[in-house]
Amino acid sequence: MANHIKTIGVLTSGGDAPGMNAAIRAVVRTALGKGLNVQGIRRGYHGLLNEEIINMTARDVSDIIQRGGTVLQTARCAEMRTEEGQRKAAGILKKYGIEGLVVIGGDGSFAGAQKLSNLGINTIGIPGTIDLDIDCTEYTIGFDTAVNTAMEAIDKVRDTSTSHERCSVIEVMGRDAGYLALWCGIANGAEQILLPEEHDYDEQKIIDNIVENRKRGKKHYIIINAEGIGDSINMAKRIEEATGMETRATILGHMQRGGSPTCKDRVFASIMGAKAVDLLCEGKTNRVVGFSHGEYIDFDIDEALNMKKEIPEYQYKIAKDLSI
Ligand code: ADP
Ligand code: F6P
Repeated sequence: MANHIKTIGVLTSGGDAPGMNAAIRAVVRTALGKGLNVQGIRRGYHGLLNEEIINMTARDVSDIIQRGGTVLQTARCAEMRTEEGQRKAAGILKKYGIEGLVVIGGDGSFAGAQKLSNLGINTIGIPGTIDLDIDCTEYTIGFDTAVNTAMEAIDKVRDTSTSHERCSVIEVMGRDAGYLALWCGIANGAEQILLPEEHDYDEQKIIDNIVENRKRGKKHYIIINAEGIGDSINMAKRIEEATGMETRATILGHMQRGGSPTCKDRVFASIMGAKAVDLLCEGKTNRVVGFSHGEYIDFDIDEALNMKKEIPEYQYKIAKDLSI
């Protein structure tokens, strides 16, 4: 069912992620190529409610594919969670003639898109978050860059940790999800990976393992701790006290969200951005773009928000098996 949408909008919402710019570029250029007008909405739903809306040309997205962050900027917006805010947002989009909206963000941002779709705006979501925690898709834009940034930082901590024969508790982002921690744990050869999905809070087991590892001649002990568990500074103090091994905590923090996107993030963002516009041109609404079994697909947002993705047990087991 094709429709004759003339103007679309694009916004980025929630935490920024490397590759969001490549997605914006793909949305703008695909739409312009199909003869549509494109309006960029600055600062996510917050900017939409303040009518921060700018016309976008092909040149406006020149020289951004390689840049981290989002040129449209992003925000979190409490008002958009209210019915009044949602009606106001839909009214503003209609006032500007924006019939279709591409929302680049996470689950929260898609919930906003779902509400706008119910109010007569055609909406498509693109998964953009370093956390990889969107259940309907195997990939989210930003994860690859963030995990490589974290991996390189952890390598550096490991050098000094080994030199001083210390234990290091290194906290990586991910909100309530452990994907960044799991991947860093495997890639950095960590002795211990603490995932919110798996953690049993039995710290004594970790302490015993540190002591055993020391006896076996290991010079360092790297614990990758997911943000969803947190408490890294106190954890390091407790470990030092119990094991006698000097222990330091490093919280990598927001540096994981910045930087030039990797090739993978640029390519996924470009394809997902183009697909979002294709879906709008087919008359689709309330959909989110995803990637599964090697294919770019799309789901109904209601369905997508109810899906459940698990931490891959086999990968977690391998990480543990390799940490001897
Ligand atoms: P993410 O999109 O990365 O999950 P957030 O959860 O912070 O990030 O959501 C981003 C924004 O989406 C929120 O600040 C809010 O404006 C909007 N949003 C979140 N949940 C809802 C909801 N249930 N209904 C409407 N809008 C929502
Ligand atoms: O969702 C991305 C993310 O970086 C999470 O990993 C983290 O929990 C959160 O955003 C941090 O948000 P803020 O930038 O508001 O501190």
